[in-house]
Amino acid sequence: GGLPRFKNFPPADFTLAAERDAYPASIAKLRKTMGGTVPLYINGQDVTTADTLDSYNPALPSEILGSVCQAGVEEVDRAVEAASAAYLTWRDVAPEERAEALLKAAQYLKDNVHDMAALQVLEVGKQWDQAQADVGEAIDFLEYYAREMIRLGKPRRMGRAPGEMSHLFYQGKGVAAVIAPWNFPMAISVGMVSAAIVCGNPVVYKPAGSSSCVGRALVDMWKAAGLPDGVFNYCPGRGSVMGDHLVDHPEVSVIAFTGSMEVGLRIQERAAKVQPGQQQCKRVIAEMGGKNAIIIDDDADLDEAVLGVLYSAFGFQGQKCSACSRVVVLDSIYDRFVERLTEAAKSVKLGPSENPANYMGPVVDKAAQQNVLRYVKIAEEEGRVLVKREVSEDLKATGGCYVPLTIVGDITRDHRIAQEEVFGPVLSVMRAKDMDEALAIANSTKFALTGAIYSRSPRNLERAYKEFRVGNLYLNKPSVGALVERHAFGGFKMSGVGSKSGGPDYLLQFLDPRLVCENT
Ligand code: SER
Repeated sequence: GGLPRFKNFPPADFTLAAERDAYPASIAKLRKTMGGTVPLYINGQDVTTADTLDSYNPALPSEILGSVCQAGVEEVDRAVEAASAAYLTWRDVAPEERAEALLKAAQYLKDNVHDMAALQVLEVGKQWDQAQADVGEAIDFLEYYAREMIRLGKPRRMGRAPGEMSHLFYQGKGVAAVIAPWNFPMAISVGMVSAAIVCGNPVVYKPAGSSSCVGRALVDMWKAAGLPDGVFNYCPGRGSVMGDHLVDHPEVSVIAFTGSMEVGLRIQERAAKVQPGQQQCKRVIAEMGGKNAIIIDDDADLDEAVLGVLYSAFGFQGQKCSACSRVVVLDSIYDRFVERLTEAAKSVKLGPSENPANYMGPVVDKAAQQNVLRYVKIAEEEGRVLVKREVSEDLKATGGCYVPLTIVGDITRDHRIAQEEVFGPVLSVMRAKDMDEALAIANSTKFALTGAIYSRSPRNLERAYKEFRVGNLYLNKPSVGALVERHAFGGFKMSGVGSKSGGPDYLLQFLDPRLVCENT
């Protein structure tokens, strides 16, 4: 009996006509239905608000995905209250039954994978293949955490002392606030939300403003899974209006956050302060930024390395916490590598992600565009511009949120562009005289999320294994694209607190262990 062993959902196969045709069809269908009011969802009911925020297509900002209702503090209070009431029953539902809800949710996503992915193509400007990978990762989280909860749900006998029977088991900690990013709008949302829910913790979910329509798809998913009212509450809102209120709420027990270091640190600070009426210490799980390096050894396979760096730095416009923003190149191969990289970067096509011929699309919104342009300027001042793909007049005319793909050389570790997370397509090239210096440069930021090395030398790969100190290190592979279980994901230092998502320790963070010992 039992479930089949966990397996990752397969990537899109565009050699199949059915897969190629599915995207234009799903996008066309979405265009016919989108644009309406998107209500909150609290205690099993749609709730509308006077305040709304339009979510738009970053490739064509006049195109509105939805006019999204915005929770204020009152709606947050209602949602936490509903979650709190639901906790008393959901907590004690059998772990297998909670896992069953996740498996049903996974089935819903599998049945609707192209529609779910198309939503991201239009709402955040994600390329088809990567949008599908994101939905696939959401499916993986559901399938994996379902199995993990079944594993952890069995009480464990402790010791074998005669005359006693001692069992250790877990219960959900309480209401979880989940604050999600827009860059993996379905995967990371579903990952954090499903972990909380399967552990018995009802959720108040705040999606990012620029991906709130993808966020709303979680409502449909949980409805299809038959989740009881109050266990999942969809609460988009302006961070400046309701973010602190949600974090400070005395009935919130767990806060799962993925986003910037600044916001993550603020959440940790606020969550540490005990509010009137608060009954328990809050647990914060915060996945924050990165300033990830790829080392190019002097014997690296350059065909592989160039493609790996290009994809790690510019895939989804560099908007991944795992993105490569520094490439550290050994001196003796520097000129050859840089020539190959710049050639490749000059040849990729830029334009709407909706067209699969385009390698790089717009960044997520106008604020992101302004922020990246600011860093492009800093990069130009600090280094030597190797590539700057100016946005064409045609693309500018669309009003889309495009930024130039930028590569700068002659960057050293004290430059701002070598230390601050950009979250956009800006890559620094740094020179190292030997592997000692390359590793020192790679480790020289306050972040420790991902990293990679391209090398044919077993000795240098082994050195990297030991000395390249990041949460996820990839040998002869890109720094992006972690898969659930196989590449359990997350970092340390200023990259976050908490254990790896998609890994065997993740659920424990949402649980309180209990022990019962009977004198027999
Ligand atoms: N898991 C993603 C990646 O590895 C980042 O969040 O690219």
